[in-house]
Amino acid sequence: MFQTKITEMFGIQYPIIVGTMMHIARAEMVAAASNAGALGILASAIFQNQEEFREEIKKIRGLTDKPFAVNLNLFPAMRPIDNREYLEVIFKEGIRIVETSGYRAPEELAKDLKDQGILLVHKCVGVRYALKAQSVGANAVTVVGFENGGAVGVLDITTLCLVPRVVDSVKIPVIGGGGVADGRGFLAVLALGAQGVIMGTPFLVAEECPIHPRLKRALIEATELDTMILMRSIQNSYRAWVNEASKKVAELEKAQAGLEEIVRAGAAEKTKRMIQDGDLNAGVLSCGQGVGLVKKIMPMKDIIEGIVHQAEELRQRLAVI
Ligand SMILES: Cc1cc2nc3c(=O)[nH]c(=O)nc-3n(C[C@H](O)[C@H](O)[C@H](O)COP(=O)(O)O)c2cc1C
Repeated sequence: MFQTKITEMFGIQYPIIVGTMMHIARAEMVAAASNAGALGILASAIFQNQEEFREEIKKIRGLTDKPFAVNLNLFPAMRPIDNREYLEVIFKEGIRIVETSGYRAPEELAKDLKDQGILLVHKCVGVRYALKAQSVGANAVTVVGFENGGAVGVLDITTLCLVPRVVDSVKIPVIGGGGVADGRGFLAVLALGAQGVIMGTPFLVAEECPIHPRLKRALIEATELDTMILMRSIQNSYRAWVNEASKKVAELEKAQAGLEEIVRAGAAEKTKRMIQDGDLNAGVLSCGQGVGLVKKIMPMKDIIEGIVHQAEELRQRLAVI
């Protein structure tokens, strides 16, 4: 069912990528995704040093023998990230798939990754960025539309328009997403020409997702109206769940507060606390518009199989129209 160039390239059962998530995409989450037939992506930026990062990779290997990937963060970060340090571990540990995400293509990393025979996927939000990723040697490109949970850039192109534009513009396989939360969206993105579908927000309510149950329940109550774009004033736009912390950031931006004050209001430490303690207004959480379609806390495997089965039924129904 749904065998594509991406399932073939990564050696996975379904063309589903469980998007990397800061604070969240740790071993349990990544292994749950990969064990369910999708591709899990470990967020390297969570780890403070090489040792912690290496231990987490080992932990994943103890939990799954299925393929998984590692994300290298190219976005601006409060804690300066030296991706070379992560790369050393990636090489030593024999990681086969690396995803980069950020406002620029991974020019300086691409050659080393290719030399090691590592598959490189770059995640971005526009045709010109996808072309650049292809030109530096990416094996596949992921594009996410404006509905996306997390970084949205500045182009504001919806998934429905962005995916086919990128498919028509590049020669490498495209993974599309942003706002996909069920079999209908999954099939739609494949129909747009993508060879794989990335989702993040729907997996925030997976049983294996390490966020507080109170936060999962709040996300289930949320609708498509409950997200907003933050940090645009400081060139770091991302879509987040609407709560007191995100409203505060938006207020500060509107009042043209200083960079430091805005960054402090949206600080990663507060998000971490919210995720752990379930204090619903403590921090800012990335979240896509697809949250309106998320209705039940379920094991990762059931979410993924539910998406694939719904898509298969829909495909058969459409075939006879
Ligand atoms: C809570 C959360 C945290 C995220 N953190 C990151 C991150 O650290 N790096 C990154 O490249 N993408 C991050 N993303 C984006 C996802 O990897 C993925 O691209 C996105 O969730 C797909 O769109 P969707 O949420 O509409 O399904 C995050 C998304 C969410 C919901």
